[in-house]
Amino acid sequence: MTDSTNSTTDQKPVQTKIITILNKNNLKEELQEAIELIKQNELIAFPTETVYGLGANALNDEAVKKIFKAKGRPSDNPIITHISSQTMFQRVVHESFDYNLAKKLMNTFWPGPLTLILPKADIIPYSTTGNLETIAVRMPSHPIALALIKESNLPIAAPSANLSGKPSPTTAQDVFDDMNGRIKLIVDGGPTDIGLESTVLDISDSSRRPIILRPGKITKEEIENCLDIEIDFYDSISHKGISEDIKPKSPGMKYRHYAPNAELRLVASLESFRENYFQAKDKNKFIGLIISNDFKECLEKNLIDLDKCYSYIYKDDEDLGSKLYFKLREMDKKNVDLIIAYYKDTNGFSKAIMNRLYKASSKK
Ligand code: TXA
Ligand code: MG
Repeated sequence: MTDSTNSTTDQKPVQTKIITILNKNNLKEELQEAIELIKQNELIAFPTETVYGLGANALNDEAVKKIFKAKGRPSDNPIITHISSQTMFQRVVHESFDYNLAKKLMNTFWPGPLTLILPKADIIPYSTTGNLETIAVRMPSHPIALALIKESNLPIAAPSANLSGKPSPTTAQDVFDDMNGRIKLIVDGGPTDIGLESTVLDISDSSRRPIILRPGKITKEEIENCLDIEIDFYDSISHKGISEDIKPKSPGMKYRHYAPNAELRLVASLESFRENYFQAKDKNKFIGLIISNDFKECLEKNLIDLDKCYSYIYKDDEDLGSKLYFKLREMDKKNVDLIIAYYKDTNGFSKAIMNRLYKASSKK
């Protein structure tokens, strides 16, 4: 258990307490304090299967506004609402919405890392949706997240629990590093499993094909198999696949995300690795590396000495996905000057990894 009395500039000091969940069979009792805080329209951080979320009652305008304040998040960046049941789904989505398409997706992927964009119910305040008529909804599969929602009997609005612009937190300590003094409670359920945020799929407009606005663990191919139709993919790397009228629908896309303090260079060949690496070495920079096992062997064969670097060698996409944000945060703590990441994407989950690496590397 950790306590702190740090304060933010314009608020009274808040004690940030961490409760560690030891007994997953007795969640109602273990989560009692967290459930009470949600009911009192306060903020709490909790684990999901993707990343830690910073949650508040999605039905209460004042509660949701506290999220934006704690994160330093622009108010036009909408928040995902987390639900625990079909009944709750119907409370948050507009009654006129035809569920057919959504039903197939919900039956296949929920609970799990898929967020659906749908027309919002009238009871959802505009603070939750960043002034949009649509709402982002997901049913998480993490038992702690599900128990919190179910036992408070409230939909929980929760963005990732990082300060705006920082990599999403995948451990309670990461949340504490960003939110210490800003929120009352962090529920520690251990490191998250997937490590990257959910896939965001817009199905709010029946006159056009579903479109992936943010790639994640649930892939385009899996969604197409489920729906038996082709869907669109907004490629935020090339900005292809989206028309001008859709762009304002996901305001989150315009903000820089996932960024470590150190500059990150994304490379896809030995030549470009060499160029960046030796340039940084010549300037005596402390280099952080994110490279695959295979590429490490390739570097060794080419007699490139990695001794003085801080290296993260990943085994496969699942490994890289689950540890990427954690390693980026760790490299900042070690005061790495430059991170060189070697990555080539193919299909499926690798699109999500490439998307996050690209955003971490782009300078705005
Ligand atoms: O895995 C996740 O999705 C995590 C965990 C905590 O559930 N949450 C998360 O939330 O990543 P956040 O706020 O960091 O990302 C929400 C994304 C943003 O890109 C936002 O623009 C988009 O979802 N979004 C939310 N509501 C939307 C809407 N009505 N229309 C389009 N995009 C929306
Ligand atoms: Mg986020």
